[in-house]
Amino acid sequence: MAFERVCAQDEVSADEALAVLVDDLEVAIAKDGEEFFAIRNECSHAAVALSEGEVAGGTVECWLHGSCFDLRTGKPTHLPATEPVATFPVQLRDGDVYVDVTTSLNGVRPD
Ligand code: FES
Repeated sequence: MAFERVCAQDEVSADEALAVLVDDLEVAIAKDGEEFFAIRNECSHAAVALSEGEVAGGTVECWLHGSCFDLRTGKPTHLPATEPVATFPVQLRDGDVYVDVTTSLNGVRPD
């Protein structure tokens, strides 16, 4: 496990993900209520940034074709995407968000 600080908790808004770069990997940081999540910042359908879509109800919506991805599992909740995206462990410490991109929570390879 190699947690790295990626942002302050108050940099992440309720309806939009924050794009961060961790070890050359683009990750989207999002929250659902008080819970924070880290998900690979690339739609599994056509590789656009998920951080540009809307966050709501524990999902992030891809702006291009509208697939939503569950922040907890990385799985698409409807078409056209059919493949999950990688999700990563998050820790909250002293008002900051830390992510470990060396561990995929759902077994999906991030590259
Ligand atoms: S590029 Fe994301 S759903 Fe098509």
